[in-house]
Amino acid sequence: MRIGILGGTGPAGRGLAVRLAAAGEEIVIGSRDEHRAETVAEGLVAAWPDHRLAIAGASNEDTASCGLVVVATPWDGVIATVRPLAPALEGKVVVSMANALVKEGREFLALLPPRGSVAAALQAALPRSSVSASFHHLPASEMEKLSARMAGDVLVCSDHPEATAATVELVDKIDGLRGVDAGSLSQAAPIEAFTAVLITVNIRHKVHAAIQLSGFGDH
Ligand SMILES: NC(=O)c1ccc[n+]([C@@H]2O[C@H](COP(=O)([O-])OP(=O)(O)OC[C@H]3O[C@@H](n4cnc5c(N)ncnc54)[C@H](OP(=O)(O)O)[C@@H]3O)[C@@H](O)[C@H]2O)c1
Repeated sequence: MRIGILGGTGPAGRGLAVRLAAAGEEIVIGSRDEHRAETVAEGLVAAWPDHRLAIAGASNEDTASCGLVVVATPWDGVIATVRPLAPALEGKVVVSMANALVKEGREFLALLPPRGSVAAALQAALPRSSVSASFHHLPASEMEKLSARMAGDVLVCSDHPEATAATVELVDKIDGLRGVDAGSLSQAAPIEAFTAVLITVNIRHKVHAAIQLSGFGDH
């Protein structure tokens, strides 16, 4: 099954693409401009020749034909991006990784999107898809650096058990990461908002910290 990433030309989409492709997945990076997507995909493949990454570029429209689709646009572009793609996304797992944040000085603050979270708004826009929320807390700069192993827990939530299972399975394919079922899609609100805290910590301490749950067994 191919995995599509809408808005996959940005740092978050690129990082996820290389990690999943390094795990053996076939990835399609989507863009509003298919030529940009092709250029970005070629650049990623060329950057890591030893990994022989299966990453292609396509329009967002063509990317929506993949079996599982991740939405990696800025939060305020998510609904406009997926609305015309709703028929193609019907019956599929659609993963939201967007965080609604605003930067104020050296701090990031969480915004309250309609319906409480970007993921809930996405599920409302795609009632015939199974939306999950995940990958919010992974720093894109670390994801794209394939030479370094990642380590951490990745929270996954959804109102659809099959979407939770598919997303946890996807996370677990990435070396060093563990997918954790964190409950229903209502949990997307605190999960998304916590990203503001995490990025602020990273800015203040000049680090690229992700999250790791203690007391939850070994990785
Ligand atoms: N950066 C991180 O460390 C990180 C980590 C975890 C999650 N996230 C979340 O992942 C999402 C993407 O992050 P990013 O840093 O990669 O963002 P980004 O670079 O600002 O945007 C990603 C891509 O989305 C497309 N795009 C931009 N504005 C758009 C709009 N108004 N409507 C539709 N498409 C638009 C662009 O692709 P085209 O121009 O090629 O269409 C762009 O390359 C965000 O919601 C962010 O909160 C980010």
